Amino acid sequence: MEKLYRLLYPMRIVLITSRRGQEDNIMAAAWCFPLSRDPPLFGVSLTGSRHSYPMIKEGGCFGINLVAPEMKEAALLCGTRSGRDVDKFAESGLAKEEGEKIDCALVGESPVSIECRLADVVKTGDHYLVVGEAVNVTKRREAKGLYQKEGRDWVEV
Ligand SMILES: Cc1cc2nc3c(=O)[nH]c(=O)nc-3n(C[C@H](O)[C@H](O)[C@H](O)COP(=O)(O)O)c2cc1C
Repeated sequence: MEKLYRLLYPMRIVLITSRRGQEDNIMAAAWCFPLSRDPPLFGVSLTGSRHSYPMIKEGGCFGINLVAPEMKEAALLCGTRSGRDVDKFAESGLAKEEGEKIDCALVGESPVSIECRLADVVKTGDHYLVVGEAVNVTKRREAKGLYQKEGRDWVEV
């Protein structure tokens, strides 16, 4: 069957950071979107097979880090390798920054990082909608975003 979700593409690529104990992880996500203005809620849709999923559930928070065009290689690594096998902060060379309001790493190169406290997890078909309440935003600079059109076909806008 046709991939109906593709009708909504291109979608913005973000890096989702998570922490469980001493372990930090980063994954790429295109299914990330605002859900509510007040309270400020964001949703990220993950399959249960992502290493990030139990890390977010157990860690209780996550970071949404916007991706700028020059972060493409790092974002590809974060979207194709699993934190089960590799330390993606070390491998990508992305700078680890501490959240101000949450105990979670953020990506220092990101133009904007949103710190979220886990508010809910809803099973939505073959994915889990991870809902976070934004508790802090760090704006570092202006930059274009990267959007996924299809697979590795990404455009900057
Ligand atoms: C551009 C891009 C967007 C992605 N979007 C999502 C997404 O929205 N949800 C998801 O579950 N996986 C998504 N992935 C796949 C995960 O990033 C990938 O499986 C990653 O290796 C998971 O890492 P982890 O096992 O360390 O959590 C995307 C991958 C890429 C390259």
